[in-house]
Amino acid sequence: MIGAERYRTHTCLDAARAEGQTVRIAGWVHRRRDHGGVVFLDVRDRSGILQLVVHPDAGVVMDIAQRLSPEDVVSATGVLVGRSPETVNPKIATGRVELQIADLTLLAEAAPLPFSVEDEHTEAGEELRLTYRYLDLRRETRLRALELRGRVVRAIRGVLEHEGFLEVETPMLTRSTPEGARDFLVPSRLQQGSFYALPQSPQLFKQLLMVGGIERYYQVVRCFRDEDLRADRQPEFTQVDIEASFVEPRDIQRLIEQVLVAAWAEAGIALEVPFPRMTYDEAVRRFGSDRPDLRFGCEIRDWSAAAAASGLGVFGSVVSGGGVVRAIVIPGAGAGMSRKDLDGLVTEAQEFGAKGLVWAVPGSDGALRASVKSDFLAGLAEDLGAGEGDLIAIVADDEHRAHHVLGTLRTRWAERFGLIPDGVWAPLWVVDFPLVEWNADERRWDALHHPFTAPRPEDVPLLATDPGAVLAEAYDVVMNGLELGGGSIRINQTQLQERVFGVIGLDAEQAQERFGFLLRALELGAPPHGGVALGLDRLVMQLAGERSIRDVIAFPKTATGSDPLTGAPAGVDPPQLRELGIRSTVTPPQAATP
Ligand code: AMO
Repeated sequence: MIGAERYRTHTCLDAARAEGQTVRIAGWVHRRRDHGGVVFLDVRDRSGILQLVVHPDAGVVMDIAQRLSPEDVVSATGVLVGRSPETVNPKIATGRVELQIADLTLLAEAAPLPFSVEDEHTEAGEELRLTYRYLDLRRETRLRALELRGRVVRAIRGVLEHEGFLEVETPMLTRSTPEGARDFLVPSRLQQGSFYALPQSPQLFKQLLMVGGIERYYQVVRCFRDEDLRADRQPEFTQVDIEASFVEPRDIQRLIEQVLVAAWAEAGIALEVPFPRMTYDEAVRRFGSDRPDLRFGCEIRDWSAAAAASGLGVFGSVVSGGGVVRAIVIPGAGAGMSRKDLDGLVTEAQEFGAKGLVWAVPGSDGALRASVKSDFLAGLAEDLGAGEGDLIAIVADDEHRAHHVLGTLRTRWAERFGLIPDGVWAPLWVVDFPLVEWNADERRWDALHHPFTAPRPEDVPLLATDPGAVLAEAYDVVMNGLELGGGSIRINQTQLQERVFGVIGLDAEQAQERFGFLLRALELGAPPHGGVALGLDRLVMQLAGERSIRDVIAFPKTATGSDPLTGAPAGVDPPQLRELGIRSTVTPPQAATP
């Protein structure tokens, strides 16, 4: 072990295995208990907690021990002895032994803490925890998550190195790469008025590495995206970024399966390969999502024909107007719900964009409780195979919105009504994504992944006639409804790249201006290539059983993108701005200092 004997000879865990020996340990005072003149100290280091005992006749050692407060940093020397059987604590790894202290040094005092660092005390709010993140990191769950993250990265590197991938670093101060988010900009002092962008991903550089003959590249790399934050999104996050030459989608997919098998093995979980595959179209049709959670059923069902014939005006007019009527059945969920609860579901559906929602719950006598007169729903329960107490939710709308709303409700309700089994891992490849999607606001086609994604060769002619029908050689890897990563085969020919830029509304001049360097590189011998990027934070979050990626990042940002610890983002001195040739039109709020 690295470290000075002056402070310690053993970690707490190693010391516990050294019964009969004299050892020195160092760490934080986790707890102190006085028992009739005997003082017990629980001392904690990264390896665990060890119980120390100070006897009444210990003189100066007792004086020090009695003055200790929680989280003081100490070093203690003594003999490691077995505990008497009645005092053994089977719950902790060091629970059979204790250290009889002969010498105790206070290395650093701790002032009273703003919150307890014990795992069972989690009442402090997130803002306070992030302000004192270094204290929060002393909690066992935080430490275990960071340890898991470290092991997962090592395991992933192991697979990639074994497969001949070379880790290469790419620039952080660069030009914007479109990945669908806003850029973080960095002003240039030497070229005032010009800005670098922090990379949303190393996409273009990894492609240029392929043109450079690197053949197999990877990087554990920080990416930056200025977008609305959620539990699974941070403004800076880490990708395991991969690119390879002379590959087809299946090669990259096989590699990622190996990578994920190795990562999951770090949490003691065996994943089966190959992962199942589903087309984008099927995923959206059956699950209303391009990242379906396959741990439970409740698939979206088509009830359009029967609905149109039902006599309920809204169903008929939606269907005759080219829309659809779709339904989901949530087993057992309707049984205990009052009419008010059920009507609440309508409001919930509206929050996700539905114009309305029809609900129905079959009763014991074959009758339906429903939000519309049950005559309009004749045959519904039978058509959908719904039984007593099941909740049926029906949405009539255009196909896109009906799928989106029911897909969202499906996952929310499965969770709410306890339909998601524990301990099940459902990985999935989603393939055959459309190349572009229609942006109705801007009235143009947008790339669904990024504009360097290759169309399927057989679909290239459609670029001119029906871009929306072109499928891409793109794939996403999904685990339990979370998008862990995505990638594609890239365009390696200038002409095709220019055509795709054209489809998304970049004319030749704009394409040259923004991506001239890429187009030029593609002219100079670009091998066929493809790759993928995994979201490392998301992957570790799932493995650690956490619900937010903040829990597996040492120093994360809050939902408003700030860091309460350092006070970032913060105002800067006017001279600093002047040097950059920048004048601010707003005065930043004073950051609260902890
Ligand atoms: P994409 O944009 O799909 O692809 O990103 C890949 C993966 O990165 C993770 N991710 C995030 N994680 C946390 N916070 C965020 N804000 C965030 N945004 C994305 C997700 C996602 O699946 N260059 C392409 C990859 C390629 O084509 O090779 C890219 O970046 O898990």
